[in-house]
Amino acid sequence: MVIIDGKKVASEIRSELKLQVDLLKKEGKSVPGLVAILVGDHPASKVYVNSKAKACDEIGFKSSIEKLDENISQTDLIEVIKSYNNNKDFHGILVQLPLPKIINENDIINSISPLKDVDGFHPISVGNLVIGNDTFAPCTPAGIQELLKRYNIETKGKHVVVVGRSNIVGKPIANLLVQKKDFANSIVTICHSAADVSIYTKQADILIAAIGVPNFIKKDMVKQNAVVIDVGINRIEDKNSPKGYKIVGDVDYDNVAPLTSFITPVPGGVGPMTIAMLLKNTLKAYNNLR
Ligand code: GUN
Repeated sequence: MVIIDGKKVASEIRSELKLQVDLLKKEGKSVPGLVAILVGDHPASKVYVNSKAKACDEIGFKSSIEKLDENISQTDLIEVIKSYNNNKDFHGILVQLPLPKIINENDIINSISPLKDVDGFHPISVGNLVIGNDTFAPCTPAGIQELLKRYNIETKGKHVVVVGRSNIVGKPIANLLVQKKDFANSIVTICHSAADVSIYTKQADILIAAIGVPNFIKKDMVKQNAVVIDVGINRIEDKNSPKGYKIVGDVDYDNVAPLTSFITPVPGGVGPMTIAMLLKNTLKAYNNLR
């Protein structure tokens, strides 16, 4: 069994990107810029946004966190986004989700320029992804594909079973891996909580768990030698930790890992890849806009 080291791969990608930024600086060019828009003070979102900005700073990207009041109106939020659509210093715009309930998430995503849509959530990006055109792929799915690629895990003709159908992970990873392309070409099943998913998970050569339920995937749901990718980031109470909680995935890791050929740990598996791919998308936006 191989434990996939997402932290190491993400760090390699960040170093590769830093080399490209160093080169731009040497040539006297501007650098890629990312703005992260945070509405309200959702604790996990704050942590994510700070990590994204820190990752930008470390490789020499320009970064900014636009902190907005939780009670901002939808119209005002759209005005802020539009100002960044026209701001030449920022090539990528990210609106951290979830948003307060009174705001319509789709309207907000639609207001981001598709040229700056580094999250890959705009319907134009989603449509291009489904068609198989070059576009911004959402960062977590792109990170999963990159891990499969860098660990030489065969995807062609393999049965990928995705548990979870979110717009952020489940649907886009299925669409990436079904494409008739290298590091894809899989047979893909998407399943979800409307039925007993174990019927499907047991058939997976590559099982992707993205349901947001702690330790949901048990060992009797996994085929021997399967590749298991755990996208879950769940906070559960832990009295022994100074923070009072710990992070666990969607997979019952201790019992499932011995069965697998490859598995991603939580933390240190898929998580760090999300930010690495966000940086990659920001460089792509910069190159497209130049
Ligand atoms: N919330 C959870 N994951 C993500 C993500 O990848 N991007 C944004 N913008 N919000 C999120």
